[in-house]
Amino acid sequence: MRIVFLGPPGSGKGTQATLLKERLGVPHISTGELLRAAVAAKTPLGLQAKAAMDAGELVSDELVLGLIEERMASDDTAKGYILDGYPRNLAQAEALDQVLGSLNRPVQKALALMVDEEQIVQRLAKRAEMEGRSDDTEEVVRNRLAVYREQTAPVADHYRAKGILVDIDGVGTIEEINQRLQNALD
Ligand code: AP5
Repeated sequence: MRIVFLGPPGSGKGTQATLLKERLGVPHISTGELLRAAVAAKTPLGLQAKAAMDAGELVSDELVLGLIEERMASDDTAKGYILDGYPRNLAQAEALDQVLGSLNRPVQKALALMVDEEQIVQRLAKRAEMEGRSDDTEEVVRNRLAVYREQTAPVADHYRAKGILVDIDGVGTIEEINQRLQNALD
């Protein structure tokens, strides 16, 4: 199964993708994780991406596209994938269609997790206390949400127009949401 997860920061994309990948036996590909690994390793890409990430802004389309082209062309995506954090604007959605079209691995389902902003702020404040992720401060979280509203939310319509978008209520326990996702995929 070839899946794209959509949803605002903190909506549970990473949490749910981690659970689903076991069940589906496909890789979970998170551009946020790939970028954080590049920052930690101080690669040229990581050094270029860091300031935007710390501010809660999007890293440039060009940098992230290079990352995604390389990752999606790996052999392990032939059996499917769960993509999390990409695409994040309409230009990325169109670029992704091209990359996946040329690999003959197009997206089959876009799953959009819906969670209200106040719940997201609470979830990420809790994670900030527990893990100290540099972009989980309240000010940066508010900016990530604004960037999401302006640039990423319209991506849902890209997949709606293809008839492959499923909206999922992202509020509840992790298990309840996992069950909703499984029902949407069955
Ligand atoms: P990225 O890592 O993608 O961050 P994000 O979208 O903001 O995602 P999060 O990891 O915060 O949230 P999530 O939806 O995965 O939720 P999670 O499961 O972690 O991107 C980071 C940055 O990288 C971006 O700001 C940007 O700078 C850059 N970037 C990445 N991709 C890019 C791209 N394509 N183009 C340009 N720039 C890009 O859960 C969140 C918390 O909630 C966790 O603590 C979790 O335990 C908890 N939780 C999960 N489910 C529940 C539940 N049901 N109830 C209560 N708590 C829950």
